[in-house]
Amino acid sequence: MRLGGHTAALGMLLGVLAFPSVCQAGGTVEVLHWWTSGGEAKAIATLKSAFEAQGGKWIDSPVAGGGGDAAMTALRARVVAGNPPSAVQLKGPNIQEWARQGVLTDIDAVARAEKWDELLPPVLASIMKFHGKYVAAPVNIHRVNWIWANPAVLAKAGVLPPTTWDEFNAAADKLKAAGITPLAHGGQPWQDATLFETVVLGLGGADFYRKALVELDEKAITSSTMIKVFDQMRKLRSYVSPDFSGRDWNLATATIMNGQAGFQLMGDWAKGEFVAAGKVAGQDFLCIPAPGLPGFILNSDSIAMFKVNGVDKLEGQKVLASLIMSEGFQETFSLNKGSIPARLGVPRDKFDSCARKSMDDLAADTNANTLVPSMAHEMAVSRSVRGEILDVVTNHFNSDMSSQDAVKRLVEAIRRARS
Ligand code: GAL
Repeated sequence: MRLGGHTAALGMLLGVLAFPSVCQAGGTVEVLHWWTSGGEAKAIATLKSAFEAQGGKWIDSPVAGGGGDAAMTALRARVVAGNPPSAVQLKGPNIQEWARQGVLTDIDAVARAEKWDELLPPVLASIMKFHGKYVAAPVNIHRVNWIWANPAVLAKAGVLPPTTWDEFNAAADKLKAAGITPLAHGGQPWQDATLFETVVLGLGGADFYRKALVELDEKAITSSTMIKVFDQMRKLRSYVSPDFSGRDWNLATATIMNGQAGFQLMGDWAKGEFVAAGKVAGQDFLCIPAPGLPGFILNSDSIAMFKVNGVDKLEGQKVLASLIMSEGFQETFSLNKGSIPARLGVPRDKFDSCARKSMDDLAADTNANTLVPSMAHEMAVSRSVRGEILDVVTNHFNSDMSSQDAVKRLVEAIRRARS
């Protein structure tokens, strides 16, 4: 971290003087999150140690389960019980939903003093605010639509990185013929939805993606393109290994590393697993933009602050917010997490080729208007709409439902969620 030892020591001293008996020097935070895989745990540990270096007390509340569905259930129970954690990994429209319920607190004094408006891309700044005030701080930017592959495995099967879905299917067939599982996948609804939105973008393009998965336009949802999307999902289903059901995403990533599987379609938190295992980008693993039409599916993690009482906890929230937006933290966290910084202007020299590609594509896709928010990762629609979409996608993936039926059910499910 770039926090100088002197600054930290001084901070501790001042903190002790300011709150002699009741307070931890840098305050106390309880952080509820779902970063429990190897790479994720390493990344969140950098925030914990930086916070503690400022004299703060960190209470860790991890809730295992990729994609965060279990964490959100735990959060709801805590809020209902009137005992929310002070800081929570929360994203996209979810931040607004909790803010509307009056349970978030603003950290606008810190944001204004540190000029966050100038440090963040406007698209992220607006997600972090409620009624014009910051209630959350972004930690990173993840790209969802990647393929992860082991170059030795591709070479063994004589397969090249695919650029279209037809090429993907042809490569998958070749892998299968070579005795390799074509698609590393864990059968959990959010993972199925990650495949689904990647196929929606690849086959339909960014405008179609926005119409179908952001605006929930019925013409798009019932179009022949959506039928093709479900056809491709059926193909993908034929490429997974028999033990895929319920498997955690990081275990699927491990099958890429150990040569059992060819491709994983997953966001770049998968890179965090490769990096934690000492693997090198471009050499031990490849990051390949997902096939088809161009675009960048955006997923940004952030920490929202809940209303809590007591000077010590309020101080903890301020210290944490400031730390999250510091250049040093944004760099260290993303190096471990597989993401890129949310904050603008963080030097790129320490980042690998995958992160640099992500940075370049983010800029290019922003300019080309092909940057789209992730539905599966809660950046696009309300939790209830997302839940309905995930149900249909998973039911289709795990049955012999036709693409036509899936489309019909999708329309009905979305109508239900919105009524
Ligand atoms: C995403 C989250 C990532 C990563 C992933 C798997 O929703 O944004 O940070 O944790 O889930 O757990």
